[in-house]
Amino acid sequence: MPHKVVVTRRLPGGWVEELRKVAEVDLWEGESPAPRDWILERVVDADGILVTLVDRVDRELIDRAKRLKVISTYSVGYDHIDVAYARSKGITVTHTPEVLTEATADLIFGLLLAVARRIVEGDRLIREGNWNKPWSPEFMLGKEVYGSTLGIVGMGRIGRAVARRAKGFDMRVIYYSRRKHEEVDYEYVDLDTLLRESDFVVLTVDLNPETYHLIDYEKLSKMKRTAFLVNASRGAVVKEDDLVRALKEGLIAGAALDVFEREPIGKDHPLAQLPNVVLTPHIGSATRETRERMAEVAVRNLILALEGRKPLYEVP
Ligand code: GLV
Repeated sequence: MPHKVVVTRRLPGGWVEELRKVAEVDLWEGESPAPRDWILERVVDADGILVTLVDRVDRELIDRAKRLKVISTYSVGYDHIDVAYARSKGITVTHTPEVLTEATADLIFGLLLAVARRIVEGDRLIREGNWNKPWSPEFMLGKEVYGSTLGIVGMGRIGRAVARRAKGFDMRVIYYSRRKHEEVDYEYVDLDTLLRESDFVVLTVDLNPETYHLIDYEKLSKMKRTAFLVNASRGAVVKEDDLVRALKEGLIAGAALDVFEREPIGKDHPLAQLPNVVLTPHIGSATRETRERMAEVAVRNLILALEGRKPLYEVP
């Protein structure tokens, strides 16, 4: 086999088998992520590596991998990879956007509806045996989604997919991003205006030095007291301690979160103590169809780059 590759996780679908047709594959078969030492040992003479977002691809790893031509991540996000350093060594870095856009937008909309209409709270109430009064006009009132204002921070593929869903709910869509996108006809506003006017603030930016802790106490205090924050991007876009404080002080009405500063979180996490918060365990792209398509794209990116051809998606 001309190429040697390391794959740090089993993937759904038969794509690792496809990879074996063109490369010698060292696959971590465990249920938990591959130990760092396992990766560091194997990367020494690898031509390619396929990683997930839990594997840190830093200078130490890159320096060890003297033959490495390509780092293919099974994710759209690439904040776990030192992309600039990899590039300085002539290594191509690829990712899996597009195929996960709709699944992630579905989850974001599900989170938004769940927190606005208290769906998880209602489920919990019944399971705990506390639905013990007949129907009542003012029981478990939530926030109307239809016709409300949606503020999207970041207007990339996922932001646009969320905005398309919002049309069906007759929502006013405003957005903030580094630049105005002429090709979309939603209203472009600055971040403070977005925070002030939105009933739902949805974060769809990637994590980078500019977006790290973008949403802190000061920003949260600009939101309406009746508004909700929805985050399925990366936990560290929000300063989590500040969010807990804002929720406790009633600065905002609630939050729905799929991502956290340090994952996984347990039931003792401060956010898990708050009734007006909906939590999911980083499952934005987690449908069978999407995860199989991500495997296809990650493997095809890897093979194309190994063959010196243009991968499907190089990180920007
Ligand atoms: C998931 O968080 C991804 O980046 O694909």
